[in-house]
Amino acid sequence: MKRFTLLALALAAGSVMAAQPKGDIAKGKEIATNICAACHAADGNSGIAMYPKLSAQFPNYIFHQTKAIKEGKRTTGAAASMAPMVMGLSDQDIADVSAFYAKQFPKAGEANPKDNFELGARIFRGGLADKKVPACMACHGPNGAGMPGGGTDIVAYPRLGGQHQAYIVEQLKAYQSGQRANAIMADVAQRMSDEDMKAVANFIQGLH
Ligand code: HEC
Ligand code: HEC
Repeated sequence: MKRFTLLALALAAGSVMAAQPKGDIAKGKEIATNICAACHAADGNSGIAMYPKLSAQFPNYIFHQTKAIKEGKRTTGAAASMAPMVMGLSDQDIADVSAFYAKQFPKAGEANPKDNFELGARIFRGGLADKKVPACMACHGPNGAGMPGGGTDIVAYPRLGGQHQAYIVEQLKAYQSGQRANAIMADVAQRMSDEDMKAVANFIQGLH
């Protein structure tokens, strides 16, 4: 029975995950320059907080999030402004541009030492035992570089290191409210106060 359930889950997960074509970095660079650079920067190290950094992110995570935004399944923040820009891209195009950004060198921002830095470091590395907030590091890695998903319905534990503080806070709030659907991160975010979110996001901005 147990084995059957696991198999059914694996099949269900497989069916919702679109197969990802192999990416061509040179073609991806062209797409990045022509379309994405306007918001995410040519090397993926956007300097504007509302546009997440894409450099060194897992290619399958970039692929799935780009598709989710294109298909109107992810509507957080200003995602609606991106949707028309990627509407004309095929799965192959998206795989190409994902392969390109995944190979770009990540540039971290700086954490503000006065913005609850100690609390942020503590949450990231050890979590908050009293609220049962897990250590972010357990899934997103000690340097925030993330981890591959390993063939489950989790495509990847995305890279967070160096990401803009305001973007991180916005995503945590979206997971908390359910606007961005993900069971694991909803559970994490629902245990956090606004202060916890701001603190850990400040720490993450300087993490590399
Ligand atoms: C008009 C501006 C704009 C353009 C052009 C644009 N994006 Fe975005 N993108 C955004 C915004 C805004 C967000 C953040 C949405 C949010 O707040 O959740 C985003 C989010 C993303 C994310 C999610 C990142 C994460 O860490 O979860 C990916 C992946 C992405 N964009 C890929 C692309 C790619 C690839 C292209 C080019 C083919 C592109 N974007 C073009 C505005 C843009
Ligand atoms: C048990 C594993 C796990 C733990 C612990 C965890 N995360 Fe996550 N996190 C994930 C997964 C999986 C995703 C991808 C979810 C998705 O596809 O939307 C994610 C996504 C995110 C994102 C969105 C990234 C982006 O680029 O849009 C943020 C922000 C985030 N996590 C922050 C945190 C913080 C802060 C902590 C610690 C308080 C934490 N996570 C703890 C598994 C985890």
